[in-house]
Amino acid sequence: MTIRAVVKGVGHYLPEEVVPNSWFADKLETSDEWIISRTGIERRHFAANGETTSDLATNAAERALAASGLTANDIDALIVATSTPDLTFPSAATMVQARLGMERGFAFDIQAVCAGFVFAMSQANALIVSGQAKRALVIGAETFSRILDFDDRGTCVLFGDGAGALVLEAAEADGTAADRGILTVDLHSDGRHKDILYVDGGVSTQSTGQLRMQGKEVFRHAVEKLAKTAHTSLDKLGLSGDDIDWIVPHQANLRIIKSTAQKMGVGMDRVVVTVQDHGNTSAASIPLALSVGVERGQIKRGDLLVTEAIGGGLAWGSVIIRW
Ligand code: UT7
Repeated sequence: MTIRAVVKGVGHYLPEEVVPNSWFADKLETSDEWIISRTGIERRHFAANGETTSDLATNAAERALAASGLTANDIDALIVATSTPDLTFPSAATMVQARLGMERGFAFDIQAVCAGFVFAMSQANALIVSGQAKRALVIGAETFSRILDFDDRGTCVLFGDGAGALVLEAAEADGTAADRGILTVDLHSDGRHKDILYVDGGVSTQSTGQLRMQGKEVFRHAVEKLAKTAHTSLDKLGLSGDDIDWIVPHQANLRIIKSTAQKMGVGMDRVVVTVQDHGNTSAASIPLALSVGVERGQIKRGDLLVTEAIGGGLAWGSVIIRW
């Protein structure tokens, strides 16, 4: 008998303000046409003044708990994946814990930038499989609008704010690829690539900093590494692209999403795409896409999902889940 971390429910929250590409075209030398053709992004949401990452995370968490039929005090482990926490400390996760009225268990943040949710799911899975937690609430939440340089057209048009949350619960299973739950995880990082995607400030340098990216270089790594990690995860299970019902990729760029799907032999009719509406929400992008995919009626119980992401670090990886 094997213990699996099985999905109980999912939810998301997007700030009210929708920012269309035309907002940037009014301020910078860019155009709706350039942004759509190079990225697939049509609009993104920005948090209101005073609205923080833990606000977005709490809203998404409440929806995921409601979808699961659980309350906050049923949760043992609460993990927030974010690179844009409200404060240097305490963690966004403990702030969400308090806001949810959760008076037990433990909460902590994970920082692996755009790959954060994949790393957080891996950690939640390890806690559940090892028996340290029976139920985990895994949240990806970001306010990247706070670290954008709005004079840099190469980066500011790409990112948005939002949050998504997933409730996982321990369940006995057969230990085969037919089980529901997280089936396998593949994680990587390579710190030698720091300079192609980073924020040029932080606590220790006494500034907040802004996002800096060599887009073409990151693009090159993404196209190479995402399909590779997805294949590694599939190989571990003896599965192939034909077995996948949905790829739920990190939503950074439609061209990266298409190229990865093609390398995996999966048609775009089996890929959940939300980048047009959300832009790149970093650690929030996969749980947002999972929640929207369920809402649209795309993702159904029993479907085999591949999630994959890459971001600053570089850090990247994939998780295979049977929904
Ligand atoms: O989630 C973390 C991971 N991040 C990513 O996955 C992002 C990966 N990178 C990308 O998505 C793409 O590289 C970008 C969308 C950032 C850029 O697309 P690209 O096709 O690689 O364009 P480029 O950077 O090579 O720029 C092409 C041209 C340049 O002009 P010149 O030098 O050819 O005259 C840029 O200055 O496009 C120009 N450009 C723009 N033009 C209009 C760059 N940004 C813009 C813009 N509007 N917003």
